Amino acid sequence: MPDRYDLPTGFRWGAATAAYQIEGAVTEDGRGPSVWDVFAARPGTVRDGHTGAVACDHYHRYPEDIALMKNLGLDGYRFSIAWPRVLPTGSGPVNPAGLAFYDRLVDALLDAGITPLPTLFHWDLPQALEDGGGWLNRDTAHHFADYAAIVTDRLGDRVPAWITLNEPFVHTVFGYALGTHAPGRTLMLEALPAAHHQLLAHGLAASVLHDRGLEVMLSNNLTPVEPATSSDADLAAAQAYDALHNRLFTDPVLLGRYPDLSALGVPDDLYGAIHPGDTDLIAAPGLDGLGLNFYNPTRIAAPTEPGLPFDFVDIPDVPHTAFGWPVVPDALRQLLLSLRDTYGKTLPPITITENGCSVTESTTPDQPRIDFMSAHLDALAAATAEGIDIRGYYTWSLLDNYEWAEGYHQRFGLIHVDFATQQRTPKASYTWYRDLIAAHKARHSK
Ligand code: BGC
Ligand code: BGC
Repeated sequence: MPDRYDLPTGFRWGAATAAYQIEGAVTEDGRGPSVWDVFAARPGTVRDGHTGAVACDHYHRYPEDIALMKNLGLDGYRFSIAWPRVLPTGSGPVNPAGLAFYDRLVDALLDAGITPLPTLFHWDLPQALEDGGGWLNRDTAHHFADYAAIVTDRLGDRVPAWITLNEPFVHTVFGYALGTHAPGRTLMLEALPAAHHQLLAHGLAASVLHDRGLEVMLSNNLTPVEPATSSDADLAAAQAYDALHNRLFTDPVLLGRYPDLSALGVPDDLYGAIHPGDTDLIAAPGLDGLGLNFYNPTRIAAPTEPGLPFDFVDIPDVPHTAFGWPVVPDALRQLLLSLRDTYGKTLPPITITENGCSVTESTTPDQPRIDFMSAHLDALAAATAEGIDIRGYYTWSLLDNYEWAEGYHQRFGLIHVDFATQQRTPKASYTWYRDLIAAHKARHSK
């Protein structure tokens, strides 16, 4: 059986973070408010009222964090750029101090021998755009393309590859359908125009980036969907969920068409959002790589109550993370094989842009995270041996950070952060990952 040491020569080892989850400094140097600042300040939205106002204070401590990355031996670092730092009101005047921060960050990474992999949008929409309808407003897609041009004009000379959006599924569903994330809207399926406008934003920005000779990826959170039983009703429910979670965000980009959502009662034009020509704008630029964020498979049953046409069912008899998510590493291999079945030659090379787990703070020596990462990396090696082109792995996350609606309660980091003192302490998984990266490089340099 192939294992993680057999991952290909040149495989890119990385770690990932996102702006609102680590930067803090939310009112500094002219940054405008984002939807997360506003949402988290509203009572009852986030566990214990936690906000990202300070987070890991990475805005000031990035040199220390880059030193920790260098010591880890990372090839690449995935971070996100806060749109409201660059454009405090989302469109209009540029904030030079905001751009200058990312300029310093990129230079410091390059000095440390680490390739920056920026994401342009990881959920922190400028609040001024939300006030105009946010992702429900088609104009937001055009503002995003303008923002992409501004950022890449500044950094594109040093940063070759970019991710447009992070997980439009999670942002649409948690942010606009269920309201458990910012901006906290509860539109259920009528949230889907927000999905289309994000995909349109991706397509418009991808053209901007390609015009500048840059590579483009999109990071989707994909999940293999399994029916709870082999009954027709459970199979139909699983198919409907798969269309909503996976195909809705990948088919338009890779195949130039939307999946059939009629089983959900969703109109073909996504409630009027899709205009003629949009699917071409989304697909035409093409993708240089598919970013895959993988956490867990999903088990679905037919609904027991009226409402959505599916129910979520736990997967028993497997370990669960501190967050309660089932741990099924082979599901990652299966997902990769099924992507090849579905997309064939249109499937671009894959980069795992997130994978990791939350572990309770008191768990020493961080063994569940080491087990989680090693098993998922072995699954990637197995998929590679079956012919899937996987270019790299960015673990989520470098540091314990602000876990959205869970505040600081879920710890995903290789590095422990004491949020009272900002002290960083590498965990056992950090040492394990460092040794793995070194051993893999040693084996593949022979
Ligand atoms: C899902 C995960 C997903 C996460 C996103 C969870 O509810 O089970 O698959 O990655 O939300 O934050
Ligand atoms: C998101 C991250 C998040 C992680 C764990 C992903 O859905 O991109 O921002 O922290 O999952 O929930």
